[in-house]
Amino acid sequence: MKERENFGSKIGIILAAAGSAVGLGNVWRFPYMTGENGGAAFILIYLFCVVALGWPAMVAEFIVGRHGGANPLRAYERMGGHKAWALPGIVGMVVSTVICGFYSVIAGWCLQYLVLSLTGNLAIDSTASGQYFAEFSSSAVLPTVWTVVFILLTYAVVVKGVRKGIERSSKIMMPLLFVLLLVLAVTSCVLSGASKGIEFLFKPDFSKLSPNVFLEAMGQAFFSLSLGAMVLCTYASYFGRQVNIVRSAAQIVLIDTLVAILAGLMIFPAAFSAGIRPDSGPSLVFITLPVVFGKAFGGATIFTYAVAFMFYLLLALAALTSTISMLETGTATLSEETRLSRRSAGGIVTLGAMLIGVLCSLSCGAVDTLKVAGQSMLDFCDFFTGQIVLPINSLITCLFVGYVIGSRVVSDEISNCGTLGRRWVPLYMFTVRVVCPLCIVAIFLHFMGLF
Ligand code: PHE
Repeated sequence: MKERENFGSKIGIILAAAGSAVGLGNVWRFPYMTGENGGAAFILIYLFCVVALGWPAMVAEFIVGRHGGANPLRAYERMGGHKAWALPGIVGMVVSTVICGFYSVIAGWCLQYLVLSLTGNLAIDSTASGQYFAEFSSSAVLPTVWTVVFILLTYAVVVKGVRKGIERSSKIMMPLLFVLLLVLAVTSCVLSGASKGIEFLFKPDFSKLSPNVFLEAMGQAFFSLSLGAMVLCTYASYFGRQVNIVRSAAQIVLIDTLVAILAGLMIFPAAFSAGIRPDSGPSLVFITLPVVFGKAFGGATIFTYAVAFMFYLLLALAALTSTISMLETGTATLSEETRLSRRSAGGIVTLGAMLIGVLCSLSCGAVDTLKVAGQSMLDFCDFFTGQIVLPINSLITCLFVGYVIGSRVVSDEISNCGTLGRRWVPLYMFTVRVVCPLCIVAIFLHFMGLF
């Protein structure tokens, strides 16, 4: 058995796990989904999913990770007592690598926009902005190169290990990310006419609700909290015995949700103040926002480019702390289950993610045949992993913790063997046994029109 590292400090644990959770899901996906689904009504359902399903599911992953003390594949197998239980771990390893691939395409676009803002070449006129994005994202070389660069950046951190790579980089990048986010949100909220955007975020319009909205909100909650891909299970295997699992999960959920809301406060007030409706879908941050920045900050001024630069830097940093967790999951599993060193195992997972990333990047217009079920490979991977695989794998994790590993183990992990008290254990067991599974299944059935 190879030696395993641990995180060095509590704050390191929170920042690394929150780094995984806070990502494009918060700053890119959450705002456009909110924009498409009617604002506050979507946010309310999202909040329900985060608190009632996401938090307990995160605690479940932490329990498996820390108690198993190994990569997800081995942790599940060990605790389940049967080889078949390795399956959620395997799914986690594959899906985190796939997400790393398609996610890096979007992160690569951010790098390009970062350079454009820095050099003053960002198109801020509405026709030019749309045209530029269409041309850039459908070209073959540049976006693909950025995708590869982003995955290599991720590898450079992961290969340094848990403390020196993941923990140290999160301690630098996460505070920077918060500062950028705060500066941008305040800047946006003081613009004239910003109040309409704030209203859009906080005043629910229930007429926009449809079965699809529930599935999207649930998928978004799992995606945003990094659940089901076993990245948090992997991180939990580096937790010390003294970590309070329930409280740490609550802190991570809180940080992730706050960042999503702040991202909304950064985008919608500025959009409404510029007279632009925020329902343009995935291209919101690449087509609409440059125009919004231009209109809000007086055209092609230094201020416009500085704000744009800060925004794309924020996106890139948030994405990097997330891709690190995705790559770590595959790397830890492969290196512990084979004789490969961390470096070589990481290299192989990196190549796998690159392959997916390159295909997804090319599927955006350069190669027409890269389509699955009528969508580009990028959109398909995003939908299929986020809305289907992550909730199902989380459902399995809840059932595993609720019914398979025994309530004694759960109680010991939640209470740190009694030192924190066991009074919440029955409520927690009821949640993972009944509430989470019922809600997840109900949302799926509702989506399929079965009730
Ligand atoms: N939680 C990340 C985000 O919000 C995405 C992610 C999904 C990360 C699954 C790891 C695993 O962007």
